[in-house]
Order: sequence, then structure tokens, then C-alpha cells
Amino acid sequence: MDELLRLLATGEADTTPALAARLHCTPEALAGRLLALAAEGYRPQPDAAGRLSLRPAADSLLPGDILAGLRTRTLGRGEILYATEMDSTNTQLKRAAAERNLPAGSLAVCDRQTAGRGRLQRAWETPEPGTALPCSVLLAPDLPPGQAHLVTLAVAVAAAAAIAETGLSPGIKWPNDVVVGGKKCVGILCEAVATEKGPLIVAGAGFNVRQRTFPETIRHRATSLWLMGAHGADRRALLCAYLSQLERAMAALEAEGLSGILAEYTARSVTLGRRVEVIGATETFLGTAEAIDDTGALWVLDDQNRRRQVWSGDVSVRGVMGYV
Ligand code: ATP
Ligand code: BTN
Repeated sequence: MDELLRLLATGEADTTPALAARLHCTPEALAGRLLALAAEGYRPQPDAAGRLSLRPAADSLLPGDILAGLRTRTLGRGEILYATEMDSTNTQLKRAAAERNLPAGSLAVCDRQTAGRGRLQRAWETPEPGTALPCSVLLAPDLPPGQAHLVTLAVAVAAAAAIAETGLSPGIKWPNDVVVGGKKCVGILCEAVATEKGPLIVAGAGFNVRQRTFPETIRHRATSLWLMGAHGADRRALLCAYLSQLERAMAALEAEGLSGILAEYTARSVTLGRRVEVIGATETFLGTAEAIDDTGALWVLDDQNRRRQVWSGDVSVRGVMGYV
């Protein structure tokens, strides 16, 4: 990120003359650079003492505006890849991480995806520009081998906690769909990527924030924070809250394994205790969801009274009375 933008975003900037001296440029050159930032959509403003800082516009996802709102130690503080339109934030971050030495904590975010991807090769729709928050974070989790799949549960916990900050009461549909009012408002897709530093994880989350409507095909199971009543939800504030919550959930997962987040996860679960249909590649069965164990698997008591362990890899679990 441009050093002037970084100083303005982090509140380290000063008055115009002091800033010009710090950046070793003339006040005229500085004025030109400030104008260029304004043309990109940034709003540097002086305080009463003439010290400049960014005043992010509502809902802005510009990298400098995101940086200005971050309260994290590492997440969001690597590179921020931003464009109004991307094919998929997961695809872009995976490509950049594989090609360049991106630091963990790097972020990809856009206003609209043209080829958003979901689980099980499904498509993730973000049709109206500026209403969704598709984002992906590069993580280097310090977890024992074979535990990487638990990251997706930490992402669900973090996304739900961030949404709870808007005043809504989100639930988690096992394994990793965040729902409000029985409909999905966040989809999560975590993917591994091979990098110079070894395998890292791209944690993608698509928040439905300000959509007023959804395509006919998903209307029965999709909702947005706006539709659920959070009319003031701001994508930048939500992103910054989510990154803080993700940092917290990942730290708990790394320190204690799944038990570090399991109480919070189960407290938000809308699957436990419910009648569910488990839809697998080769078999579908009905039962009651009873528990989530420390491997992240769901235990279902099927209608033949057998307890069955279900892993998230290739199944869908639906409520028998509807999506949840
Ligand atoms: P499960 O994980 O149990 O299979 P699911 O039925 O919601 O849950 P997913 O694979 O998690 O399926 O999600 C992908 C599905 O979500 C797609 O098939 C699509 O119907 C739906 N979907 C696509 N875009 C959105 C969106 N923006 N909001 C909510 N749902 C969406
Ligand atoms: C699902 O529910 O199937 C997962 C949907 C994941 C969507 C997010 S949006 C940001 C990131 N980029 C993608 O292409 N997918 C994830």
C-alpha cells in the first residue's frame, strides 16, 4: 500500500507540511498525491489542528478505509487485494498466494463476484453490486496435521459473532452456514493453497448484507442482514468486526483445539436437537442431530436407532421442515 495512504489510514499522518517533510516531497507534490487519492474515492480530512486522516465513507471497501477500521493484530494487515469486481475472492487470493510471497493475514475483497464458488461445486451468487461482502483471508494456522478442516468451524463462529454485533441473532447450520431467521446469510468456503511457505488456507466468506431480494432459485433459503432488519449494516464495519472475531476464534482453536470454540459453536447451532436429512453422495437418511464431537463431526441418531458419525466433506444436512 502507498505509504501516504498507510499513514492516513493508521492515524500516523500529520499536518500537510510535516507530512511532506516525512515523505521527502514538496507540499505541491503532496497536494497532487492527495488529489489522486481523492480521485480513487478516499476522503483525507484535517482535524482542528490540521492533522490529516482518512474519514471513510459509509460502506466503503477501499483498502485504506478498511485499514483505518481494523482492530486486529495480523488479519487484514498483509496485502489487501481489492477490485469492484472479481471472478472470486478465493480464486484471486489463491492465485496471488501461489505466485507471490503474500504474508498471512492478506485479504481479498470485492463488491461483486462474477464466478463466486460455493461448496460441492455450487455457484455463489452476488448479483447486485455493492450489496454483498465477499471476502477471503489468507491463514497460516498453527494446528496439528489433520486439523485444518476445523478452520471452517472457526470461520463460522467468527462470522456469526460479527453479525451478532449488528443486533441480529445468527445461528450456525452445521457445518458452516450462518443463518438468520432460518435462511442463509453467510456461506463459507475454505481451500488449501500451496505456497513457498508451505500449505496455507484461504478462508472465504460471503456475507449477504444489503440485498433487498434474491434470485427466484435461492429466495426460499437466502437472506441478507438488511432483509432481517439490520438496515444500518455497513460492509466495512462488518468486515473489520469479522476479522477481529476471526483472529480471536483462530487463537482459541490454535490454543485448545476444537474445544476452544465448541461451546460458542454449539450455543449458536441450529442443527443440534433437530430432525435432519443427511444427503450424501451415495446415501440419504433421516434422523435427529445429537452432538458435535471434538473432530467436528456431527452425530445423528437415524430412524433405525443407529448413531451415525457424519463428516462435512461431501454431505448436505437439511432440516426436514425447511432449509434449517
Ligand atoms: P449445505 O452446506 O447443507 O449443502 P446449502 O444447501 O446451502 O447447504 P451450500 O453448498 O452450503 O448448500 O451453498 C451453496 C448453495 O447456496 C447454492 O446451491 C445456492 O443455492 C445457494 N446460494 C448461492 N448464492 C447464495 C447467496 N448469496 N446466499 C444464500 N445462498 C446462496
Ligand atoms: C457455500 O455456502 O457453498 C459457500 C459459499 C462461499 C462463498 C464465498 S464468497 C467469498 C469467497 N469467494 C468465493 O468464490 N467463495 C467464497
